[in-house]
Amino acid sequence: MLLKLTSEEETIKLGARLGRGLRAGAVVLLRGELGAGKTTLARGLARGAGFKGRVSSPTFALAHVYRGKRLTVHHLDLYRLARGEELEVGIEELLEDPRAAVVVEWPAAAGGRWPKDRLEITLAHAPPGRRASLKATGPAARKVLESARA
Ligand SMILES: Nc1ncnc2c1ncn2[C@@H]1O[C@H](COP(=O)(O)OP(=O)(O)O)[C@@H](O)[C@H]1O
Ligand SMILES: [Mg+2]
Repeated sequence: MLLKLTSEEETIKLGARLGRGLRAGAVVLLRGELGAGKTTLARGLARGAGFKGRVSSPTFALAHVYRGKRLTVHHLDLYRLARGEELEVGIEELLEDPRAAVVVEWPAAAGGRWPKDRLEITLAHAPPGRRASLKATGPAARKVLESARA
């Protein structure tokens, strides 16, 4: 599925729609160059999943956690992992959190250990906006996509 996002607001809305469909165990991988809108989308996802707090977390952290009533969203930004910085939490542990979904920017920085069933979103600059391509690679991810369409 290919979408045009003409403003930051639309990126957030897409995230929020997908976030409403997020369930524990869901994995969302966000790809795209710097500035493509990955963090913006992740914030929308946290909102849609029911997180009410501040989502503008400090950029120096590689891992953020958004605890909503319904669901916890772990948001990883692994950009600096490939550049030698360390993650204080174990990725395996987060993936096993029975109450949580995991959203990852720069997933390639962690190697190939993501679950097979995941929602892959690639964002790209399409001046003045962005475009997003969405692909579900398994049944759990397909459910997230379906509930975003509804
Ligand atoms: N659809 C869009 N159209 C225009 N600007 C956008 C859009 N989505 C996000 N942005 C803007 O792009 C900038 C970079 O976004 P960010 O989410 O930090 O990117 P990334 O995490 O991929 O580096 C932000 O200023 C954000 O407001
Ligand atoms: Mg980012």
